[in-house]
Amino acid sequence: MSVSYKELGLVNTTEMFKKAFAGGYAIPAFNFNNMEQMQAIVSACAEQKSPVILQVSSGARKYANQTLLRYMAQGAVEYAKELGWENPQICLHLDHGDTFELCKSCIDMGFSSVMIDGSHHSYEDNIALTKKVVEYAHAHGVTVEGELGVLAGVEDEVSSDHHTYTQPEEVVDFVSRTGVDSLAISIGTSHGANKFTPAQCTVNADGVLVPPPLRFDILEAIEKQIPGFPIVLHGASSVPQEYVKIINENGGKLKDAIGIPEEQLRKAAASAVCKINIDSDGRLAMTAAVRKFYNEQPDKFDPRQYLGPAREELKKLYTHKVVAVLGSAGKA
Ligand code: G3H
Ligand code: 13P
Ligand code: ZN
Repeated sequence: MSVSYKELGLVNTTEMFKKAFAGGYAIPAFNFNNMEQMQAIVSACAEQKSPVILQVSSGARKYANQTLLRYMAQGAVEYAKELGWENPQICLHLDHGDTFELCKSCIDMGFSSVMIDGSHHSYEDNIALTKKVVEYAHAHGVTVEGELGVLAGVEDEVSSDHHTYTQPEEVVDFVSRTGVDSLAISIGTSHGANKFTPAQCTVNADGVLVPPPLRFDILEAIEKQIPGFPIVLHGASSVPQEYVKIINENGGKLKDAIGIPEEQLRKAAASAVCKINIDSDGRLAMTAAVRKFYNEQPDKFDPRQYLGPAREELKKLYTHKVVAVLGSAGKA
């Protein structure tokens, strides 16, 4: 039986993006796969009064069960109210949907927003697939994110070694023919914790590797083509080096983990970028806390004893992101 997101107390991205665009900040889109991640996201955003997008990938649906995730998102709204957030602005979004059927299934289960990622198809096939999803989604009041350009690295099922930057001259045609509500673009970010090789970086005076800057020139050219239109940035983890250090000091083997410097994300958030996707940083925060706990307290075996600190670290990370990077704190 299908259910509308409105009955679950969730919201789509329309108002969120309108306000984010006008206010020069970005809405956080945090991925979740389990209860601790959901609790950390909701408690950080409730405390900071930040609108938030809870993202579910198809991998998350396989891992956690789609029905459970949907009820968790419904629970997130009630949990937020219990934490004192009277009117929670929470969107439940499908991350990297790759088929019409998957998007439809999420819409029917109460998602308020979906991404249809047709970026690995030909341009015309991407348009046809995206348009089909938009037609179904809009009939249900659900907003849709499309993608033009390909990020380097792994995009769920889709693997690519090189960036294909979004071509500004295509965006007007894509947006008008598909009817999407927001557009994910490729300007140099990528998924995961190894966004750049050391060879692509320069070394600053403190010996820290500095990656090449994002292609803000392409972003500006896109903004000129579609003024006022919400842009989405995937692959926006900054890969905090303190987490990498804790992981490696406690038995981990993360090599050359390099992310997007936070000042570049702040700059993007102030522009037409209205949604910033962060997943890997949360994975690093949790893993750092869990590895440290295992190493320091090898006699403990109650999962609450290591998942508790991991959840706390995650909350700290998300709070930092909404307050100091995305600027969404106090906007809900
Ligand atoms: O863009 C990918 C997200 O980080 C989700 O990753 O497919 O491993 O759940 P996942
Ligand atoms: P990161 O791997 O940089 O966190 O990107 C996440 C993302 O784009 C999810 O869609
Ligand atoms: Zn992504």
